[in-house]
Amino acid sequence: MNSIAVYSSKGGVGKTAAAVNLSYSSSRRGKKTLLCDMDSQGAASFYYKISTRGKFSKKKFIKGNLQKFICSTHYQNLDLLPAHFSFRNLDLVLDGKKRDELKTLFNRLADDYEVIIFDCPPNMTLLSEHLITAADQVVIPVIPTTLSIRALAQLMKFFDKIGADRKKMRAFFSMVERRKSMHVDTVKKYRKKKVFLKALVPYLADVEKMGVSRAPVAVTMPGSPAAIAYDRLWMEIWKRRVRD
Ligand SMILES: Nc1ncnc2c1ncn2[C@@H]1O[C@H](COP(=O)(O)OP(=O)(O)O)[C@@H](O)[C@H]1O
Ligand SMILES: [Mg+2]
Repeated sequence: MNSIAVYSSKGGVGKTAAAVNLSYSSSRRGKKTLLCDMDSQGAASFYYKISTRGKFSKKKFIKGNLQKFICSTHYQNLDLLPAHFSFRNLDLVLDGKKRDELKTLFNRLADDYEVIIFDCPPNMTLLSEHLITAADQVVIPVIPTTLSIRALAQLMKFFDKIGADRKKMRAFFSMVERRKSMHVDTVKKYRKKKVFLKALVPYLADVEKMGVSRAPVAVTMPGSPAAIAYDRLWMEIWKRRVRD
């Protein structure tokens, strides 16, 4: 099982858009995939037209038996663990638990899924720590601005602080606008750094339209440069996997 967390301490950088489209690419390319919507706001669940379940209990969740909460999507090979409003309190449940608590929990699904993708909430919380620990690769969308590069540097320190291996960081440029010189310059300057993946995702209305279509870009607009970009990104992430 390959576990991938789409994470950033910042909100609005394209985490959910990436998690939704990457999980779709993974499933289309034949991998049995589970997308876990770990953000209590439930945007990934919304995009896949799956509503959160009323009876979900974070206590039951943490005790195991995740299968009970998993839903199938409209797409082959792709299941979803929907978010729940109570996830905002997962931090309280995780308090005092070992940092690999969630890793152990999700490892129980190893026989069922080849790929697990976590759509993480922003901020540097206990839940983030657990998800980073549970992931083999942490995919980090970075909007090409000076401040975002600074945030990435802070994230490296956060990895050190929580004892996570920096080698699993995979940054990619998100929402890239070629008409903005700061974007072009920042991409040029940092793209070759080890932490960055080559594939980048352009800023395109096609991604925003997912809010209306409630489907991955590749479903409604397979020829869109955004769909192609996410698929390339997926292939690069898959190539850099650490397990078989
Ligand atoms: N590549 C992109 N091009 C244009 N809009 C985007 C792109 N990626 C994300 N968005 C839009 O930006 C907003 C924030 O994206 P989202 O994926 O929800 O960010 P996060 O999960 O990091 O908070 C959403 O309205 C989304 O539709
Ligand atoms: Mg999000």
